[in-house]
Amino acid sequence: MASGWAPKNLNQNQVADGEAYHCALYHQGDIHRPAKWHEESVSHLLELAMGGIRDGSVVVDYGSGTGGSAIELLKITDDLGISIDLVLIDPLESWFGKAWEILCHRDDVHFKISTAIDSGGNVIFRDLEEMLGPRKADVIISSSTLHLVPLKALENLAKQFARCLAHGGVVVWNSGDVECDWREENVARLHDPYRAIREHIRNHDSRLEILDSMESEIATKAERRIDRIFPEPFSISDMIPRIESAGFSTELSDKVVDFHEQDAERFILVPRLAGIAAPLLAGDLRDSVIRDALAIVMERMREKGSCFEGGYRSHWVYGLHRLT
Ligand SMILES: C[S@@+](CC[C@H](N)C(=O)[O-])C[C@H]1O[C@@H](n2cnc3c(N)ncnc32)[C@H](O)[C@@H]1O
Repeated sequence: MASGWAPKNLNQNQVADGEAYHCALYHQGDIHRPAKWHEESVSHLLELAMGGIRDGSVVVDYGSGTGGSAIELLKITDDLGISIDLVLIDPLESWFGKAWEILCHRDDVHFKISTAIDSGGNVIFRDLEEMLGPRKADVIISSSTLHLVPLKALENLAKQFARCLAHGGVVVWNSGDVECDWREENVARLHDPYRAIREHIRNHDSRLEILDSMESEIATKAERRIDRIFPEPFSISDMIPRIESAGFSTELSDKVVDFHEQDAERFILVPRLAGIAAPLLAGDLRDSVIRDALAIVMERMREKGSCFEGGYRSHWVYGLHRLT
């Protein structure tokens, strides 16, 4: 049995949200049938990570979500007969609850929820050292997560990573949603279509009608919340100095991953992500507004060249960091 955090009292919507994201990564939720984009984007990350993983290694998965990266890593180590201790860390109970459901039967997996409430009642991120205790990590992976960490918090997070690594340990991350000056013109950033959908439906009649009926301050706050679902991507040239300020060296690599339109639809209809159409409520209208917008956005991207018939090309950047 896994140790650490376990989901408690998740409501129906939270369970459905975790299930939907899991199904965006795995066809019909079957962990043996990963969506191509998930399999292809995480495989290079895990190749890099495996360079530092031996029998008995402690591995941290920072931003585990529903378990997509952990599941793929454990497939590799199980196949090789390598035994590791895998610490999963995430702030979002709904998605993390799904990871727990899939992996809780394993003694070698440990769950840590990364948020806590401070004395003033505010939600704060817990320090990695506090979550790991005396354990040091041989490898820290962070799959599709660092673009969600605000730049102002990244420097501190990198310092936490540095303090938690065992001698010779490495940090390996990937992201499909960072900006860099070597991305080819016919390749998009992972979340470009979803930012474009947000823009496309910003002035949708039914949305505006509900916003107009709200107090203006509440409506403004709601709009800001929506903009934070797919924020403008950070630039690699802003991220790397912050990571290196903790004493890390950097090796970057990249990969172009095809994202099929049906996978994009499953992805953006995950309730938490479909929140880009709020205040439209979950249901058929919201889903059809998003579906229609996706088709239009894809067509526009096709005209510009970053879409092929049936999908779009996404650019993934991989960082490997060692302490110097
Ligand atoms: C796209 S998911 C990636 C999940 C998993 N690693 C995978 O590859 O499928 C990103 C995860 O990062 C978590 N996250 C969001 N903001 C974060 C932050 N500021 N710090 C740490 N994790 C965060 C989310 O809860 C989410 O589960």
